[in-house]
Amino acid sequence: MTMTFDHDLKASVRTIPDYPKPGIMFRDITTLLADARAFRRAVDELVHPWAGNKIDKVAGMEARGFILGGAVAHQLSAGFVPIRKKGKLPHTTVRIAYSLEYGIDEMEMHVDAVAPGERVILVDDLIATGGTAEGAVKLLRQIGANVMAACFIIDLPELGGAAKLRAMDVPVRTLMTFE
Ligand code: PRP
Ligand code: ADE
Repeated sequence: MTMTFDHDLKASVRTIPDYPKPGIMFRDITTLLADARAFRRAVDELVHPWAGNKIDKVAGMEARGFILGGAVAHQLSAGFVPIRKKGKLPHTTVRIAYSLEYGIDEMEMHVDAVAPGERVILVDDLIATGGTAEGAVKLLRQIGANVMAACFIIDLPELGGAAKLRAMDVPVRTLMTFE
């Protein structure tokens, strides 16, 4: 489900054309994060459907998913699981290659970050092609997590990421879209 919120929340996102590559319209959430009311509003809206539900862990993707995922985990009294770019985690990991709107990379998660059957929600700032989120869901499922949903502030629907996740039976919640 994509919710449309007041103009202020969307207006707090800054757009930088041609970053990091020509042709990319970069949706910059640092301006939203720096605005206390917008940051609180965004976190509250991401948390809202899960109030009263048992969520064991929130998983967030490096780096912007850490900022939001940490805040969401705190609100839900859930643990936080970092999904990191390769080479950053000290213990035994599971690893997957993935592609995103402007590149390719590999991500990792500690093999014992989630116990089999634990209820996990995935949090990130933005879904574009869905390559990052797809990789994260595959890693979580590989270690037996029950991926309840994926939540993002921003959806770029033309790039098909949210549809890709739904095709993997992951419910998706986003707060705003940019065409
Ligand atoms: C951005 C964003 C998502 C991903 C979305 O992260 O925060 O994680 O791209 O793109 P996709 O849907 O096409 O996969 P980025 O890899 O730029 O990392 P950062 O948070 O460290 O800037
Ligand atoms: N990650 C992938 N595509 C992006 C975009 N257009 N803006 C910000 N982050 C992104």
